[in-house]
Parts: sequence; C-alpha cells; structure tokens
Amino acid sequence: TKGDIGLIGLAVMGQNLILNMNDKGYTVVAYNRTQAKVDKFLAGEASGTKVQGASSLEELVGKLKSPRVVMIMIKSGSPVDGVIDELKPLLSPGDVIIDGGNEDYRITNRRVKELGEAGILHLGCGVSGGEEGARFGPSLMPGGAPEAWPIVKDLLQATAAKTPDGEPCCDFMGSGGAGHFVKMTHNGIEYGDMQLICEAYSLMLAQGMDHDELAATFTEWNSSELDSYLIEITAEIMAFRTDDGEPLLPLILDKAGQKGTGRLTAISALDFGIPVTLIAEAVFARCLSALKDQRVRAAPQLSGPAASSADDRTAFLDKLRSALYAAKILSYAQGFMLLAEASAKFEWELNMASIALTWREGCIIRSAFLGNIADAYHKDPSLENLLFDDFFNAAITKHESALREVVAYGVLNGIALPAFSAALSFYDGFRTADGSACLIQALRDRFGAHQYELKSNPGTFIHTNWTGHGGDVASSTYNA
Ligand code: 6PG
Repeated sequence: TKGDIGLIGLAVMGQNLILNMNDKGYTVVAYNRTQAKVDKFLAGEASGTKVQGASSLEELVGKLKSPRVVMIMIKSGSPVDGVIDELKPLLSPGDVIIDGGNEDYRITNRRVKELGEAGILHLGCGVSGGEEGARFGPSLMPGGAPEAWPIVKDLLQATAAKTPDGEPCCDFMGSGGAGHFVKMTHNGIEYGDMQLICEAYSLMLAQGMDHDELAATFTEWNSSELDSYLIEITAEIMAFRTDDGEPLLPLILDKAGQKGTGRLTAISALDFGIPVTLIAEAVFARCLSALKDQRVRAAPQLSGPAASSADDRTAFLDKLRSALYAAKILSYAQGFMLLAEASAKFEWELNMASIALTWREGCIIRSAFLGNIADAYHKDPSLENLLFDDFFNAAITKHESALREVVAYGVLNGIALPAFSAALSFYDGFRTADGSACLIQALRDRFGAHQYELKSNPGTFIHTNWTGHGGDVASSTYNA
C-alpha cells in the first residue's frame, strides 16, 4: 500500500509522531538524511509496524498516495529551506508540505506564499507536548494554505491529543504563519508559567520549606484551580532524589537556556505594541539567570534585606496559590491580546476558543484553566479581553489582593519577582482609566514639540509654546 504521509527527520519528535500515526492506522514513510537512522528505526522501534522506509527523497515521494503529504521534522530555519528546495521539483501542484518545527512565523508567511505560487500547499504546524506528546497525542497547531486542511485534517486530528470532551487538540488556525504564531505564543506563555512557578519556589524556600514540603505543596496545588501539567511535573521534580538520597533540584546550575520562541513572542509584542509584559519579564529573567558569574560577584557586594519567613506558613501558602492563579490569568489575558492583534494585522481570523481547546491537552501548558478560557470565548467569540469575561472578572477580583500581598512580601524581603510584579503592574495599569501618560505627552511636546491631544478634543494634535521662546513649529513637520 502507498503511504498516507512521508515524514522527514527521525529525531525524537519525528520518530514518536510516526509511531503515533501508525497506531492510528496510517501508513507512514520515514526518511532521514542519514540512511543508517532509517534502518535503525525500522529494525528497532518501528519493527512490526506498517512504517516503511525511503533512502532518498525521490523514493519517499514515489511511495506516497496523491495528493502527497510530506511532514518535515528537522531543525527550523535554513535546514528546512534546504529540504523544501529539494522536495519542490519532486512534488506536484496540490501536494502538501507540513513543517512541524518551531519556525519563525514570518518565515512561514513567506514559504506559504512562495510554495503557493508553485501550487504546493504549505502548512506551518506547531507541535507541542515533547516526546510523550508526540508519541501519544500532541497538541497540533496547523496554519497556512487553507486548501491543505481538508487533505490532512483526519490524519492530524487522529494524531492529536483529545480534550476531556473528546475534541481533538488540533484545528486549522488560519492562513500564512498563523499556526507557527500560535505555537510561538504557546511557548511564550510556557516561559511565563515556568517563571511564575520558579518565583513561587523561591518564595517557598524563604519559608524554610524542605523538598518534601515543596513536593507536597505543588501536589496539593495540582488539585486546585492551578491543575496543570507544569505544576504536576514541578511536584515530581521537587520529590526527585539522586542515588545518594539528596534532592536533585538544588544541585542543578541556575542558568536557564532558551531556544528563541519566548524571545520572539516578546519581540512580536514590542513590534505590535501589545503589553505582553509577563512573558517579556520571563525571557529577561532567563537572561539574568545566565549572568551567573556576575551574580556571584554581586551577591556579597550589593545589600538588601534578608528574607524572613511569614508568620503563618499555611496562610502564606494559600495567598501564594491565589497570587499564582491571579498572575496566570493576567499572563493569559496578555497572550490572547497578542493573538488578537496578530489576527487583525494578518487577517488570520484566529478562533480564540479553538486555540484554547487546542492547548487544553497534549501541550506543555495544558491545564484545566484552558477549559475556562475556551468557555469564555465560546460564550462571547468577540470578547475584547479575557478580563472582561464574567468568570475571569470574578476570579481576578477574588485573587488580586493576594497577588498584591505576595508582591509586597517579595519587595520587602528582597526576593526578585519579575513575573508576579509585571502581572500586578499590568493589572493596575489596565484598570486605570485616567493615567499619567499625559505627562509623557507634555514632556515630549515640551522638549521636542512632538504635540499632544487634549482630552476634550482627541484626534487633533496641538503644540504649546511652553517656554515663551523656541518657536511654534511642531516637530511632526520634519519628524525630528
Ligand atoms: C513544546 C515546547 C517545545 C520547546 C521547548 C524548549 O511545546 O513542546 O514548547 O517546543 O522547544 O519547551 O524551549 P526553550 O528551549 O526555548 O525553553
């Protein structure tokens, strides 16, 4: 039988996706640039399955049903361009190339267009869930040529994780680079969630908690509104001990790595002018963590308060759980603001409820909470901001004071809480109807004649001669 899909790239994600698709009854043809990897896979993990191998791209393409579907699972960027260049002459109009890497959505925008000109249908498909997700059900975020969707829908939805209601965590996100943009935003939110958990960890350490207590607390939190994969595995990490019986976590060097999707989320937020402050702070926190040597030199030189534990630990941990929930609501509100802006800018018509459901299971940020977000957007598909939804409005109203108290505790005890405090500052800024930016406008006009609008007459820009000298010419005339 001819193959339903060809998969290029037999690294861990590629191999697991192939086995997953095979389990779902699809025939997969596997290819890797190094032939030995194909042979090893067929003789090993894939033995006894319907998976076929190919020793060249020609052979791969020749073994596929028409329209052909080829999925690329290799390092994003120029390696993908290289494979696409080789594939293009082998494919026919109407065939589909899926890129399952973490590609920059701007590159996917370009590829969808360029391949489209040759009649090839391109999908940039976010794949989340790591090794296990790929094997047993990832969250899949395909976007690109709309004509490709009916061709691959059944295969991708069968491969994807399912929500508790049995819906596949996979839907067509939108045209161009929409799928990769949604995946990028997922990763940005992942950075934010992880940073919040790290800050909660440092606050718990300041209470003198040992690793058993830490594990027990995260386990307990996982049965609360914080129920999520990242909290669950945090509890497991807290409980993990080396062969010597010591907790492993404090032995790990506190320098965080990053591959770039969080950074691109923050860059996109800056580009589009959307205050996605928590994710940006999470990226900067990783950058600060990487300055280990300077931090070690700074520690004995730069003064600050020594942390003292809260009087009532149980009450403090309750507050911390509330604060984490409040900050998470604010972070997701920011993430969805970014999605809304990109959707408008690129005319993607992103469906927010469907994005939330796609993230409900399978991916790294999977959580019960995403079910609440899907509900909010189902109730009102044109919801302007998550914070205006009744459920989230009530939740933030209930938990904001805990966030305030926890941030205050961190400030007074010298514990850095960039993500928690970004969440709180965003909240207080967002609920301020009349803010201080009048002064920014006045200063800009005072030193550079940049002009301002009056509240009584928005839309009309005027300049004031603040000093009585310096002229009346507004800078917009020469844009200084
Ligand atoms: C996923 C993850 C994954 C990402 C890693 C590492 O959804 O499965 O987001 O795509 O590559 O989490 O990201 P960093 O190295 O940037 O932390």
